[in-house]
Amino acid sequence: MFDLKGKIALVTGAASGIGRASAREFARLGAIVVVADRDEKGGLETVQLIQKAGGEASFQSVDVSSCSEVDAMIAGIVSRYGRLDCAHNNAGASAPQVPTHETLEENWDRCIAVNLKGVWACMRAELRQMVNQPDGGVIVNTSSVGGLIAVPDNCGYSAAKHGVIGLTKTAAVEYARRGIRVNAVCPGVTLTPMVEKLLAEAPDRLQQILPPMGRAAEPEEIAGMVVFLCSPAASYITGQAIPIDGAALAV
Ligand code: NAI
Repeated sequence: MFDLKGKIALVTGAASGIGRASAREFARLGAIVVVADRDEKGGLETVQLIQKAGGEASFQSVDVSSCSEVDAMIAGIVSRYGRLDCAHNNAGASAPQVPTHETLEENWDRCIAVNLKGVWACMRAELRQMVNQPDGGVIVNTSSVGGLIAVPDNCGYSAAKHGVIGLTKTAAVEYARRGIRVNAVCPGVTLTPMVEKLLAEAPDRLQQILPPMGRAAEPEEIAGMVVFLCSPAASYITGQAIPIDGAALAV
């Protein structure tokens, strides 16, 4: 039920953190993985990690905020493999931490371009392929706990991550009868370079943001849910935004 053998899986933001863990987990379960990122060095490292473990992967350079780059990426995958079975739209970036009234237009635009437009652009291109596949496909978008509740001092990020859930639910309903499932994962604080950078600026912050479980998530704990959602075991799950948060939202 959890087998992904021979599936073609795309992971964006796979040069680092959650995306790298997800790419490695897809490969471990037998998928052929396209590691997509704008960071070529990190992306090639992920490919090497997968290949060293006996898996199959290749690197694709992409800026997810560019529709032409995203469309070219999907066209390249289809021309190489003939199809796309699973997509984890995960690339994202943090924004400067300031209250809403101090947000700069350029930072808002950049945050929305990567975290919201990027997910829409990837979904659009993936869906254009998946609607032509007899067995459809599966999409998982990375939102955040910050897509379900407020993120003080990060209004653009919160708006983008709430928006990702809207995109997810809308596509799930639109394509439910065409064999395409679309879900979102909503990680709580997860120990990745993105968070390590934020904590380097404010070392005391971790204790304030830890959930009841008393620790941050490891990227692999998010990846486990991503591959589960892409597996046959999740065949009746679509349109969901699933928190993986150590009980943060239960308080
Ligand atoms: P990370 O910084 O380790 O990885 C993000 C990856 O996305 C990097 O490899 C980066 O190069 C890539 N990327 C950024 N902008 C891109 C673009 N325009 N085009 C292509 N690739 C791009 O961060 P992390 O933590 O692994 O984040 C992954 C996702 O998880 C993001 O969407 C983030 O918002 C989300 N998230 C992370 C949480 C955390 O605590 N780490 C919590 C909730 C959500």
